[in-house]
Amino acid sequence: MSDIAIRVDHVSKKFRLYKERNQSLKSAIMRGRTSVHEDFWALKDVSLDVVRGQTVGLVGDNGSGKSTLLKCMAKILYPDKGSITMKGRLAALLEVGSGFHPELSGRDNVYLNGSILGMSRREIEMKFDEIVDFSGVREFIDQPVKNYSSGMYVRLGFSVAIHVDPDILLVDEVLAVGDESFQAKCAEKFVELRKAGRTIVIVSHALGTLASMCDSLVWLQHGDVMATGDPATVIAAYRGHDGP
Ligand SMILES: Nc1ncnc2c1ncn2[C@@H]1O[C@H](COP(=O)(O)OP(=O)(O)O)[C@@H](O)[C@H]1O
Ligand SMILES: [Mg+2]
Repeated sequence: MSDIAIRVDHVSKKFRLYKERNQSLKSAIMRGRTSVHEDFWALKDVSLDVVRGQTVGLVGDNGSGKSTLLKCMAKILYPDKGSITMKGRLAALLEVGSGFHPELSGRDNVYLNGSILGMSRREIEMKFDEIVDFSGVREFIDQPVKNYSSGMYVRLGFSVAIHVDPDILLVDEVLAVGDESFQAKCAEKFVELRKAGRTIVIVSHALGTLASMCDSLVWLQHGDVMATGDPATVIAAYRGHDGP
């Protein structure tokens, strides 16, 4: 798999849905160790290869499994069946504020997050100003991030993620909370990363943006891959489907 950056091989992921409504301590004890649950398969036998240097977009209705797939790629979740192989340094921006500690300042979070993503302290020191400048939150960098707006969280989180210089960047819908000027800045950055041969997997509902930035798209529905390939074709299929 020399030119494959990410291989998703027959991946299924289930969640347990617990059914009882009136859960009380008494009823839980009376029931003993058994509990009523249903297995819900959020991903069903998903296979896909992402070629190194490609930008791939995931599309699909809410609840179709896009975030679950990204979390499996980022090893925040583990598949119940199948496997995922990744080659290269990974950075992921999955949820607003994920990986941030609310009580710490923006500055401390840059260090914390940077080191979680595999940067050395020296590397972060060298890139610190660039990270803060790109984020545009310098004024607030010594405030606890719990006082940040969601837009500010995402600016700082995205800025750290791209300055890790990742081989593979995973981005969930989060960028949508940024304002227009920040989104334009991110779009520029994606072009730059793409030119530098980085691999990007992005989830978005902005189909026009995906069409212009992606080499291929994957459409997920109820945990199944419905279509994959050229963006225009996949978008047409997705738009043309009957609904959930
Ligand atoms: N931790 C969880 N526990 C139970 N169900 C979950 C959990 N995370 C996601 N799901 C369910 O899995 C399905 C896929 O969710 P998700 O991957 O977040 O979809 P998408 O990102 O495409 O909107 C949804 O039906 C969602 O309710
Ligand atoms: Mg999602």
